[in-house]
Amino acid sequence: MSSLLVRGIGTLVSWDDEQPVRSDVSLVVEDGLVVHVGAPAAADRVLDVDGGCVLPGFVDAHTHLVFGGDRTDEFEARLVGKPYAAGGIRTTVAATRSLSTAALTSRAVRLADEALRSGTTTLEVKSGYGLTVDDELRCLEAASAVTAHRTFLGAHVVPSGMTAAAYVDLVCGPMLEAVLPVATGIDAFCEEGAFDVEQCRQVLSAGAARGLDVHVHANQLGAGGGAQLAASLGAASADHCTHLTEEDISALRDAAVVAVLVPAAEFSTRSAYAPARRLLDGGVEVALATDCNPGTSFTTSMPFVIALACRELGMAPLEAVRAATAGGASALRRKEIGHLRVGARADLVVLDAPSPTWLAYRPGVDLVRHVVRGGEVVR
Ligand code: NIG
Ligand code: FE
Repeated sequence: MSSLLVRGIGTLVSWDDEQPVRSDVSLVVEDGLVVHVGAPAAADRVLDVDGGCVLPGFVDAHTHLVFGGDRTDEFEARLVGKPYAAGGIRTTVAATRSLSTAALTSRAVRLADEALRSGTTTLEVKSGYGLTVDDELRCLEAASAVTAHRTFLGAHVVPSGMTAAAYVDLVCGPMLEAVLPVATGIDAFCEEGAFDVEQCRQVLSAGAARGLDVHVHANQLGAGGGAQLAASLGAASADHCTHLTEEDISALRDAAVVAVLVPAAEFSTRSAYAPARRLLDGGVEVALATDCNPGTSFTTSMPFVIALACRELGMAPLEAVRAATAGGASALRRKEIGHLRVGARADLVVLDAPSPTWLAYRPGVDLVRHVVRGGEVVR
């Protein structure tokens, strides 16, 4: 594979321990990896970024990209005051079940391409709109076309016509068994209208026992036991975290669980925003993600999420960029992405901007000039 010199970098965000943000450096990529950061060096190809800012590719650690239909009507109703409730998921379940696996795959590929154009070089995808053994498996198979991070979210909502107890047994038993060859993680929606703490514990422990990474939809619509459950299970992440007590925050910190915040969902559902400042000041590692789904957050844009994090969550621009890169990598337990130190996978975003602050300063403007993934210039 040929080498690539990225030169003309105005600001490089590498998350190097000593110099996390540097100026006037070049970067050399070989065989899909960053092999040199410093003075310009010879390479087969050159990408001159003309003073632009270079960041690690965004790591979107929480999406629900595989689904059928849309929920425009529900969104319109929210604009005039109707609150969001977990039950809307069933609308998407019906639309998802009606599509072939090929159709689900091509829809997911379109959204993943959209995400890539805005700088997302790694994403996680959850199932959760199938809710039968066959449909959950089909959703995860569709996800495998776009990502290595495929999370089984059979415990998203209880499907119509079943009791919660019978459904939880199905999820922990035959459904988990069927999806194991394709799933890499497990998740459960711990919330009123979805599953209670004990039901989630049953599902998540069953997945963990089979080697899946644990994530939890926690404390999204109200204060509940999801965050502390994530801590007690040693989960990789507790996601949403909109309503947290001080005890929740110390439990997340002590168990080193990453809090994955999804402010675009709060924007779309007109919810209060997650307490990012309290989490950061309390020593919890924070990630930012889109939560892309048709119900609560129909966006693939990490730049939009970063802008919201700065404006609404009180995060400093570099804190937000770190959460959208290194934080996402931690939530997915990946060491070679989310930074641009020597040895990193060569996933990077070039901004048409002198500083990463512009992601928040110029909201809604497409500042992404180039995207490099695995050493290949893909935009
Ligand atoms: O992350 N909270 C649960 N799941 C999604 C919403 C699903 C839906 O409404 O379709 C979320 O917000
Ligand atoms: Fe979600």
